[in-house]
Amino acid sequence: MITTREFRIEDYDSAVDLWHRVEGVEIAEGDSKEDIARYILRNPGVSRVAQEGTKIIAAVLCGHDGRRGVIYHLAVDPAYRRQALGKRLVEECLNALRTAGIKRALLLVAKNNASGRSFWHRCGWEDIPAALVMGIDL
Ligand SMILES: CC(C)(COP(=O)(O)OP(=O)(O)OC[C@H]1O[C@@H](n2cnc3c(N)ncnc32)[C@H](O)[C@@H]1OP(=O)(O)O)[C@@H](O)C(=O)NCCC(=O)NCCS
Repeated sequence: MITTREFRIEDYDSAVDLWHRVEGVEIAEGDSKEDIARYILRNPGVSRVAQEGTKIIAAVLCGHDGRRGVIYHLAVDPAYRRQALGKRLVEECLNALRTAGIKRALLLVAKNNASGRSFWHRCGWEDIPAALVMGIDL
């Protein structure tokens, strides 16, 4: 049986292993164990995992800054895809954001991740062609 629950810091190693195994997720600045611990403390219950038995089979990070929600690093183990698990975790994230009063959420998809983009479209997300993503290292 597959169950879902909040992402706990004890899930970190399994989640990183999953993120390394899937295509389309890039581990970057802010993804150390200490950083993720701080992130989930700031956004309790919003990041999610799915497990079968004790095995972590899907994970997603989500949080908000009080105005916009953001989703990062959604990954479903290849052996468990197309069973609505990705959609289920995303819905749980969005429900947690709604409960926090957030009205809009954003995410980044790598330009070469065509299947990830198709998934987000199927889940109702829209492209934002008028915007360009920018960043700076601190
Ligand atoms: C993208 C990903 C999370 C989808 O997970 P999943 O559990 O297989 O997706 P779901 O079964 O919940 O699919 C939800 C909907 O999207 C569709 N979908 C899923 N993957 C798709 C794909 N590659 N192409 C087109 N549609 C897709 C499903 O058919 C379903 O449509 P429906 O609701 O009309 O039936 C998974 O393929 C994955 O981990 N990919 C690698 C990591 C990645 O790219 N993450 C996104 C980073 S931005």
